[in-house]
Amino acid sequence: MQKIGIVGCGNLGLSLLNGIKQKSPATKLYGSKRNVASIKKYEDENTVITNDNKALIEACDIIILALKPYTIIPFLKENASYFNANRHTIVSVATGITTTEMKACFDFELDIFRAMPNTASSVNESITAISFGRDELNRTDMVTEIFNSLGETIVIDETLMESATILGACGIAYVLRFMRAMIQGGIEVGFDSKTATKIVSQTVKGAAELIIRNGSHPEEEIDRVTTPKGCTIVGLNEMEHSGFSSALIKGIVTSYQKIEKK
Ligand SMILES: NC(=O)c1ccc[n+]([C@@H]2O[C@H](COP(=O)([O-])OP(=O)(O)OC[C@H]3O[C@@H](n4cnc5c(N)ncnc54)[C@H](OP(=O)(O)O)[C@@H]3O)[C@@H](O)[C@H]2O)c1
Repeated sequence: MQKIGIVGCGNLGLSLLNGIKQKSPATKLYGSKRNVASIKKYEDENTVITNDNKALIEACDIIILALKPYTIIPFLKENASYFNANRHTIVSVATGITTTEMKACFDFELDIFRAMPNTASSVNESITAISFGRDELNRTDMVTEIFNSLGETIVIDETLMESATILGACGIAYVLRFMRAMIQGGIEVGFDSKTATKIVSQTVKGAAELIIRNGSHPEEEIDRVTTPKGCTIVGLNEMEHSGFSSALIKGIVTSYQKIEKK
């Protein structure tokens, strides 16, 4: 069985580790960070937690890089000699670091992919965009399987990786801010925070399931809820008068412009 190493078990790395452990408990996993005290509790018979990246690279076949973007290139330069083209496939989940930049850290050819999951990986509900490149070790299916175990996957061209980061990874924060606002509205119309949170969470989940299962456009599902002269349409229109859709679209484009400038 192939061993998977996750370098940088912070927010996302830990989500990935937990997601893989939940879905495929028998997978041999290594997870690293420099200060391991906070993640030692995840160690078990199939999971090794270490601060020794050399040991991780030497033990694993698929190395997922979940480090902060600015540390990816220094990490690869420092550890390049431990990688072996006949054994290792690198999958970077870092924002904005291209495969060309990563390949330049090696004086030999190596299979390097990029993937963009989100923090819902920890509950196996991520959407992960993957871009593949040179694949001498035929790991495309295996890498897809890893990220399928964390939710859904789509394969995209690397040129769209930044767009996928905004919509899928930053998207978690946009949706949660929307939910927070709904909860605050719910409290204003009479619910305590806990009850409002429960109603809003299940409503958002239900709305997403309607689109996923019915394959419908959101506006089609909205039409089913908006009675003429009813309370839904007046509320929706009031939100639009205050710039609801426009604010979301502008926010997404602003995030994209920021990522492009880096
Ligand atoms: N958060 C998201 O939703 C999300 C989504 C998609 C992609 N990403 C990408 O995922 C990457 C990680 O983001 P994050 O939010 O998870 O950051 P983070 O929480 O800061 O995690 C990075 C981890 O790397 C560890 N680290 C630093 N240097 C290391 C080294 N030399 N060896 C091993 N571990 C090291 C740090 O712990 P120590 O200081 O203890 O070493 C830290 O826990 C970023 O590139 C980001 O672009 C994030």
